[in-house]
Amino acid sequence: MAEIKCVGVIGAGQMGSGIAQLAATNGLDVWLLDADRDALSRATGAISSSIKRFVSKGVITKEVGDDAMRRLRLTSNLQDLSSADIIVEAIVESEDIKKKLFKDLDGIAKSSAILASNTSSISITRLASATQRPSQVIGMHFMNPPPIMKLVEIIRGADTSEETFIATKALAERFGKTTVCSQDYAGFIVNRILMPMINEAFHTLYTGVATKEDIDSGMKHGTNQPMGPLQLADLIGLDVCLSIMKVLHQGLGDSKYAPCPLLVQYVDAGRLGRKRGIGVYDYRKATQKPIT
Ligand code: NAI
Repeated sequence: MAEIKCVGVIGAGQMGSGIAQLAATNGLDVWLLDADRDALSRATGAISSSIKRFVSKGVITKEVGDDAMRRLRLTSNLQDLSSADIIVEAIVESEDIKKKLFKDLDGIAKSSAILASNTSSISITRLASATQRPSQVIGMHFMNPPPIMKLVEIIRGADTSEETFIATKALAERFGKTTVCSQDYAGFIVNRILMPMINEAFHTLYTGVATKEDIDSGMKHGTNQPMGPLQLADLIGLDVCLSIMKVLHQGLGDSKYAPCPLLVQYVDAGRLGRKRGIGVYDYRKATQKPIT
């Protein structure tokens, strides 16, 4: 497998921009692609501010930060990713849309390139089946936000080769991450366990057991988590949480994974969490009381 020098990242949302930042600050050339030009300019602003924070805290030097910004190139043209040694997809959590993208990518990527997906729950085997290179397709699941969270979950599809697995693991380790390996079943490791907890927090709110503040405070202080499950859902994005619950429900065939009606209703109302300014909590209100 060729040495990884250039990384393509598709989707410049909260995950893709963080993955691009990680690759650039670790000395790799990066193409960051999004279909939406505004998303690209928001991503540049977010990456630049995040790099400045890392420099001011002494996590990276100013030289590394400046070099990273030079290594980052933005595009909306898939063809530009033909120079990438690995392409990490971080677009919307929809199997049909991801499959179409993997098919297109297969047509433009170098024959040696790895095609990785940051999917939270969708089958890697099924994404791989849209390509002619299933042995080079793998799950590379970063946690939110990628520059800070320690874990990368690596998911082997039915046909993922050992060579692809080793190269992907080495790249995650180059980024300073701890890796775990999961077989390709709905939700993998982390979301199979995390999402039912978040869904249950919605049921707890839906059935009037407690207020959102008490649910979050209870879980934060009672189980030593950095934030409560409803706050975490707002950070992840309620649309992403709902998509993952649907995959768990369908893939594992148990009614215990059915998405809570309140989660469904929030998504229907466009209350998608922090990225929209409102989810379970309203972030547009300056008076929003923090959960203590
Ligand atoms: P997001 O909504 O912040 O960003 C998605 C971006 O993809 C948007 O900028 C959109 O314009 C772009 N996009 C959509 N379809 C496209 C296409 N066909 N071609 C090019 N660009 C396209 O989403 P987020 O939260 O960054 O999630 C992305 C992926 O990462 C999803 O698969 C999600 O399940 C996964 N993920 C999300 C986590 C989270 O906490 N939000 C954590 C780990 C994984």
